[in-house]
Formats: sequence, C-alpha cells, structure tokens
Amino acid sequence: MARSALLNVMTQAATKAGRSLTRDFGEVQNLQVSMKGPADFVSAADRKAEEVVFQELSRARPDWGFLMEERGAVEGRDPEHRWIVDPLDGTTNFLHGIPQFAVSIALERAGEIVAGVVFNPATDELFTAERGGGAFSNDRRLRVAGRSKMTEALIGCGAPFLGRGDHARFLYEMRNIMGGSAGIRRFGAASLDLVAVAAGRFDGFWERTLAPWDCAAGSIIVREAGGIVTGIEGERFDFISGDIVCGNELIHKQLIEQLKKADDAIRMTKTSAA
Ligand code: IPD
Ligand code: CA
Ligand code: CA
Repeated sequence: MARSALLNVMTQAATKAGRSLTRDFGEVQNLQVSMKGPADFVSAADRKAEEVVFQELSRARPDWGFLMEERGAVEGRDPEHRWIVDPLDGTTNFLHGIPQFAVSIALERAGEIVAGVVFNPATDELFTAERGGGAFSNDRRLRVAGRSKMTEALIGCGAPFLGRGDHARFLYEMRNIMGGSAGIRRFGAASLDLVAVAAGRFDGFWERTLAPWDCAAGSIIVREAGGIVTGIEGERFDFISGDIVCGNELIHKQLIEQLKKADDAIRMTKTSAA
C-alpha cells in the first residue's frame, strides 16, 4: 500500500526517533535522568528523541508549528498546522526497563486532528491513520474488535499515580468496570493503549486528563479503525482536556454507562456524608 506524502514524513520522524530510543533502552541503566515533577521523569533519551522528531518534521514542513511534551509550544508561520508530539510515551516503563513505550505524532489542522502515527520500537509496530483514509498497522488495515458483550470485553485504562489525578474517583470507576468485564489492563503508555483498541486487542479504553500529545495521534487511529472516541460522558472528544473513552459502538456505550454509574455512586457518598 502506498502511504501519503504526509504519512511518510510522520513515519520517517517516528521511526528515526524510535531507533534512537531503542539504542538508549539498551543502556537504560546508564541513562542520566532528572526529576521533572512527582513521578514524572525526563530522560536524556526522551530529549534526544524529541530533537530527532523536531529536526525531521521542521525540515519536511518548515512553516508548521509544534506542541511537544518537552519543548512546549513552538509557533510556526503557518497558523493552520501544528504537530503534536510525544517523543517517548511510557517514560516510566522505559526507565524501569519495560518494553512498552512509543513515539506519538499527530497533525492538527485548523483545530482538528487529521493524521496520526504511533510507533512502538520494541515490537517494530507502526500504526498510522489519516482522516478518511483508514487506519493501518505496518500497512495492514486495522479494525476495532467486534465483541458486543461487556462480560467478554478486555478494557484498557490509565490509573492515576502519585501527585496526579483523582484516585478516589478512579477506584469507583475501576470497581464498576472490572466487575462486569473480562478484565482490566493498565500498560502505561496511552498512545499504545489507544492503538490496541484500534487493532481490536482491547475492546475499550478510558483515561482522564491525558495530555494532548498522549492521545491526539491515537484518537484518530481509533476513529479510522471504526471506533468511537468521546469524552467521559459521551461528549465530543477534546484532545486538550484529554478525557477519553473509546471502543466499538456497543462497548463504548456500556463503558459510558458504567462511568456514569461510578459518578452517581460518588455523588451519593458525598450527599450521605454531608
Ligand atoms: C504517560 C502515559 C501513561 C498515562 C499518563 C501519561 P508519559 O505519558 O501515557 O499511560 O497514564 O497520564 O502522562 O509521561 O510516559 O509520556
Ligand atoms: Ca505521554
Ligand atoms: Ca512523554
């Protein structure tokens, strides 16, 4: 299958950065790491990979801007286009020697995500999608899973951690979903969780308050694989707020219902405590 010029540019940047990460992953013990905040490490490998992506994409499209995890926002001369980049998604896994991390690149055009690439260097899997063109993994067409029963569904999620997120709310949500599903997984790289939904490995996924670079590329890959992507209450997905629920139509609907029940339970607890 011939890839578009745009996806070629994105693929080139993601795979080159991924190769840099692979080299550093082999020497993970020797990496120099600095603390960015609670439980949020930035490694030398992360910055190096980001530089690779920045150079590659700047060379290919000199006028387009960036929103990158480490570098922040870089304005381009073209106000319409912006790359949204996580050079290393799954940093904690990477630092712990767990081969579950990715390079994630999305293209925003006039406020909409129109293309996404997620590259997993450890498995050499490349996930790509462009609006209206379908989603692919190493050139094989992707399709979300067809399971309709929650009792058979495997659900991915992101759990809050030290200093991040609403821990009490997550416990309510997890209790509701694990009780009625075939299982829950927390793999630690949101971009890979999303492409797992696109590839039909996970039946659904939810996470709150992701950053734009965690979810922008994965969201279009899920959509182009036939999945539904929304906010937590079923509202329009907003990659800036980063609250996300996705899956095939039926599992997505059931996930939204369970999350709503968790929300009701939290409200009831608060009311009876007041
Ligand atoms: C993190 C991962 C993780 C998610 C966190 C993200 P990072 O990104 O995607 O799965 O739960 O919210 O911050 O820090 O590894 O790039
Ligand atoms: Ca990330
Ligand atoms: Ca990151």
